[in-house]
Amino acid sequence: MTTNNEDIKKGLAGVVADTTAISKVNPDTNSLLYRGYPVQELAAKCSFEEVALLLWNGDLPDQDELTEFRDFESTHRELSPELKAVIDALPTDCHPMDVCRTAVSVLGAQDPESEDDSPEANLLKSKKLFAAMPAVVAYDQRRRRGDALIAPREDLDYCDNFLYMTFGDVPAPEVKTAFQVSMVLYAEHSFNCSTFTARTIASSLADMHSAITGAIGALKGPLHGGANEAVMNTFDEIGIRKDESEKEAEHRAKEWMDQALAEKKKVMGFGHRVYKHGDSRVPTMQSALFDMIKYFGREEMLGLYNGLAKSMDEAKGIKPNLDYPAGPTYHLMGFDTQTFTPLFVAARMTGWTAHVMEQLADNSLIRPLSAYNGPDERHVK
Ligand code: COA
Repeated sequence: MTTNNEDIKKGLAGVVADTTAISKVNPDTNSLLYRGYPVQELAAKCSFEEVALLLWNGDLPDQDELTEFRDFESTHRELSPELKAVIDALPTDCHPMDVCRTAVSVLGAQDPESEDDSPEANLLKSKKLFAAMPAVVAYDQRRRRGDALIAPREDLDYCDNFLYMTFGDVPAPEVKTAFQVSMVLYAEHSFNCSTFTARTIASSLADMHSAITGAIGALKGPLHGGANEAVMNTFDEIGIRKDESEKEAEHRAKEWMDQALAEKKKVMGFGHRVYKHGDSRVPTMQSALFDMIKYFGREEMLGLYNGLAKSMDEAKGIKPNLDYPAGPTYHLMGFDTQTFTPLFVAARMTGWTAHVMEQLADNSLIRPLSAYNGPDERHVK
């Protein structure tokens, strides 16, 4: 069989690879629905635990289902001594995404249900992974700063406990709200690179933890999840000057962007494969960022943020994606820049695991074709 080059869909752009009932991205109406609900509504009205149950089960939980899940989640947060020892053995200058990837692999090896691919076992594994990730992410940031592990607190919900385990204090309600909004917005986004990776691995009937480990690898790249970290590196390159006015910061940001575009640089946090007129999640995340800028009194960050976005829009009409407001929000909360993508891992754990279960419910091995463009047949002399 021969394939014309024009038949090749490089990067699978525009290819519809399967159906999904988990989320619907509509770039024309700039909307994103999780199981039919607009993501903005979920971010405003629901906890991250409710959104997780929605993605896995197809419907929002009632009070009893939510209480049962919260009881489960709050008692499955602790790092086992073996997992803590593995994390401790990793260099403190490796990327935190390497720690997440390794931790999920270890959790798979430790899970007695690891090889059980029944829907019940996979839902249980999904809930355990959801509950375990915050301790991995929080402890990894702490150990890099020379700080000790903080044990989880069962009386706190997911987001309060996540921030408590990272920083040692229960967060102010304003900070918790902005964090929860980011978790909900990052939870799911149809067949993106990491989710498709998870589905591809699951399609070979490999186990849930293998699929999630692969997804974490895919998310690490700056063209995907690594962009929230890269956005902060841009802010750092321009220089964050706490005593600067909003106007001065905006001016410097514009100058930086003009120069970057003149040098034909790809500026992280802008553009999207699917959304060409703006990312549906940005207005909600941006308003959470603006709340944090006000809460922490850091107007110079607003100048940098607006300066870059305005210049990019004027020069190329390219809009920010979710990573653009999420990066500086996490910075203001006190997360290290390299921890941003692991926060995305904790959030996307919900979508990834939901997709693995959906793939397995109606599986077909994912195996596309390739058009050979190497040498013609030849023989060893
Ligand atoms: N900075 C500067 N130019 C950009 C850009 C960016 N962030 N994103 C897209 N463009 C430009 C490209 O240079 C290209 O211009 P050209 O036609 O003159 O060559 C055009 O817009 C199309 O870009 P392309 O990379 O082909 O689009 P895509 O759909 O393949 O890429 C991304 C989508 C996300 C990979 C791309 O926008 C990007 O690399 N963004 C930065 C990384 C990022 O923020 N990723 C997180 C995504 S949620």
